[in-house]
Amino acid sequence: MTLTPLRLRKAVLPVAGLGTRVLPGTKTTPKELLNVVDRPILSYIVEEAREAGIEHIVFVTGRSKGAIEDYFDHQVELEAQLEAKGKTELLDQLLAELPQAGEMSFTRQMQPKGLGHAVWCARDIIGREPFAVMLPDVIVDGRPGALKQLVQAYEETGGNVIGVEAVPDSETHKYGIVDPISRNGRRVSMKGMVEKPAQGTSPSNLSISGRYILQPEIFDLLATQERGAGNEIQLTDAMARLMGEQAFTAIEYEGVTHDCGDKIGLLRANVALALKRPDLGAAAREAIAALL
Ligand code: UTP
Repeated sequence: MTLTPLRLRKAVLPVAGLGTRVLPGTKTTPKELLNVVDRPILSYIVEEAREAGIEHIVFVTGRSKGAIEDYFDHQVELEAQLEAKGKTELLDQLLAELPQAGEMSFTRQMQPKGLGHAVWCARDIIGREPFAVMLPDVIVDGRPGALKQLVQAYEETGGNVIGVEAVPDSETHKYGIVDPISRNGRRVSMKGMVEKPAQGTSPSNLSISGRYILQPEIFDLLATQERGAGNEIQLTDAMARLMGEQAFTAIEYEGVTHDCGDKIGLLRANVALALKRPDLGAAAREAIAALL
């Protein structure tokens, strides 16, 4: 008898990093609230989480990230002004994005000790159930969204599921890379993962790109996880340990990944998503063509 995997209800969005790659823009504005076209990066991520059926989002925040909590609350004066000016479409758009009462929790990582440590900070709010981790500076332009594609696989495989994308062989040394055993379409069973393999030694070109479904046992391993690459507590290192005990499946999701934590990635996301917008695409194309 096959057991149905526990339903995925919660997601952790770690937003406590310093965003040094896009300074000085992130000196006073959280990286996750930088705009892509006309919405914060985070707005795209929350939309993807909701589409995947996530009912509760846990933000792991840090100092000077208070604006994130404010973004997901009423802005009473602004709402009144929009109403008074008859800008109802804009007002409806703002209201539609607000959470239901109790849908979001905020906890603090008091020092940015690394992604693994940030995820561990959410342990009590998540409890003992499977959960998603979504890197909130990575937008995936996919239909359905990347997390939903992972959930569809998870409902069949259970265990731990990791989103991956193929990168050029010349780029594998920049990423966490999956060590595959076999492949069935977009589903890859794996035996390990390597963080930033030296050029020419990479076991594949599948990079771990910022969407995960993990079992709660990862918290037990994160509790004792030593610092790794960059002197940070790495989620990849704890996952590699958990792989000895639990099944991991990599899913090469369909969609285009934009790393908005990087200057060129952020620029590319703005251009790509503006070009695809029915209301802006033609004007964006004209403006870009005039520059080239
Ligand atoms: P990054 O390494 O891309 O973010 O982590 P960063 O540290 O903010 O970026 P740079 O390298 O200084 O430019 C991916 C995500 O994990 C969060 C970040 O906020 C980001 O969204 N993170 C990272 C934490 O929440 N805590 C940490 O200690 C590290």
